[in-house]
Amino acid sequence: MAVAPDRLWRHFTRVADAPIVIERGEGCYIWDTEGKQYLDALAALYCVNIGYGPWPEIAEAAREQLERLPFFTNWVGFATPPALELVDKLSELVPIDVGRVFLVSGGSEAIEASLKVARQYHRLRGEPTRYKFVTRRSAYHGTTMGALSINGSPGLRSQFEPLLPGCVRVPMPYRYRCPYCSDRPECTLQCADEFDATIRAEDPLTVAAVILEPMQNSAGSIAPPPGYFQRVREICDEHGVLLVADEVICGFGRLGEWFGSIKYGIEPDMMTMAKALTSAYAPLGALVASEKVAEPFFREASSSFLHGITFGGHPLSCAIALANIDVFERGDLLGHVRSHTDEFRAAFDRLGDEHPLVGDVRGDGFFYSLELVKDKETKATFTPAERDDVKSFITLGARERGVYLRVDDRAETAVQFSPPLVAGRAQLDEYLGVLRPVLDETYDRYVANGS
Ligand SMILES: Cc1ncc(COP(=O)(O)O)c(C=O)c1O
Repeated sequence: MAVAPDRLWRHFTRVADAPIVIERGEGCYIWDTEGKQYLDALAALYCVNIGYGPWPEIAEAAREQLERLPFFTNWVGFATPPALELVDKLSELVPIDVGRVFLVSGGSEAIEASLKVARQYHRLRGEPTRYKFVTRRSAYHGTTMGALSINGSPGLRSQFEPLLPGCVRVPMPYRYRCPYCSDRPECTLQCADEFDATIRAEDPLTVAAVILEPMQNSAGSIAPPPGYFQRVREICDEHGVLLVADEVICGFGRLGEWFGSIKYGIEPDMMTMAKALTSAYAPLGALVASEKVAEPFFREASSSFLHGITFGGHPLSCAIALANIDVFERGDLLGHVRSHTDEFRAAFDRLGDEHPLVGDVRGDGFFYSLELVKDKETKATFTPAERDDVKSFITLGARERGVYLRVDDRAETAVQFSPPLVAGRAQLDEYLGVLRPVLDETYDRYVANGS
């Protein structure tokens, strides 16, 4: 059959971006239709966490499920065995006392479900005035209209306004350029206190939930300072506001734990997850609600959560998720990430010390970002006119040399490393072996020669 790649409406793709067709994957590598091999330093989109296999046990689980029952719904009282089994398995893995798990088909849908649960939860408890959501600047939580409304990047929202009313944002814990304490030896946690100030300014009785990632991806691996989440939890409790951990990227081993909430000792009321729940072998998302959150929904026989997605908790995806979690457990992927964390961090720190373009190194586990600057002393960044150009220059320079990576510039310009969790020293060396000359050329072009 003839393929017409020019008719495929690619996501977030500029007209100028060259189309590229990936047809095969193995381990940490992908191949395009021209036969060119790339190291996948982004696990596709932070999601193919077990790598591209081959994992015959996942193919077998999918085949068995398709033969037994290709689909049935979780609506109006029904369920399927893999959905029930997956919910039990997730309840073992998450760090909260699980009330219910609502299965969807992806991250944005998990966020949508969390927004709706939060609003209905407060109504059921007699506080119908609570409808607002507090998130962090630059944060990304998806693109459907509700998820988009809580996003922290004005550039993503502006074409689609007006969005949900009552979505407000606070600064992220951005130590490198923190307006409160980047000049002090230690973080003062004023970034966490901003939640308190903002909730008070909005009127606490209007605020439904605070939603944030354990380590924020957008803006480049923004990690919480010590004590941050404990303070945010206290603030939420004081004001009767729900705390939602968006685990869409941090979940399933990226930081060396099942969830970022475990890593940072967060006790959320709800958790959203997707992506590596199936290692992206099939679309699936979940909203996990604590006992506290679920309880008001189940008080009366006539009540229900008025929400549903046809493909939410698709049995094929649930069977694949279970097989995926089995691969994690049998291969001790969390242990693998933990055993490489120090080595990976040290290698990126070394690059940060040596390279004039690397201003800040952030991250943990298998999730790092290098923020680029033109001058390390002044932390001067690229001009608005240069930013797009720098992003393309690095992305295409790495791609030509056989590495697929991402340059995030939703805040400042940051090069990322978020490979499949089966990567090791060889893949790190390959990545750095490509990144160094690309950064050298970037420096020559945009700083030394001041193009
Ligand atoms: C933190 C976070 N939340 C939510 C989403 C939305 O997930 P999806 O693209 O599956 O809708 C993403 C997607 O990248 C994400 O990174």
